Amino acid sequence: MPVEQTLSIIKPDATRRNLTGKINALFEDAGLKIVAQRRIRLTKEMAEKFYEVHAERSFFDDLCNFMISGPVVVQVLEGENAVAQNRQIMGATNPANADAGTVRKLFGESIECNSVHGSDSLENAKTEIEFFFAKMDIVG
Ligand code: CMP
Repeated sequence: MPVEQTLSIIKPDATRRNLTGKINALFEDAGLKIVAQRRIRLTKEMAEKFYEVHAERSFFDDLCNFMISGPVVVQVLEGENAVAQNRQIMGATNPANADAGTVRKLFGESIECNSVHGSDSLENAKTEIEFFFAKMDIVG
């Protein structure tokens, strides 16, 4: 299986509840390696740019305001099939529909406050990683 990298964001609802370590343990226990990580405060401009594919959606403004409501932890996860594997670890977008044991089932509060973001394709993973990290920030 190919080794991939994917972009993960631990969202403000999770950092507010001090869940970074518990979420990271789920990634690591599943075999993903955290090869870059930074705790930051997004600006409105960054949130709008990052989520620009959703610009026409009704939830766009709420989503961007939520993402700047507290610190986030941006990270690069590496492993075999990391993009798909991380999406399995995260669970469905809406925590109500997420499988038992997934991050969003364990910790998500709502479809907006769903604790984590993860890239949805290898192509988007590359773009999203470059949005936050330089090559030298990523140490495998
Ligand atoms: P994420 O994986 O970060 O990508 C876009 C986010 O939009 C998604 O997780 C959800 O948290 C958020 N969102 C808020 N409302 C909705 C909705 N009605 N449908 C899909 N995504 C939503």
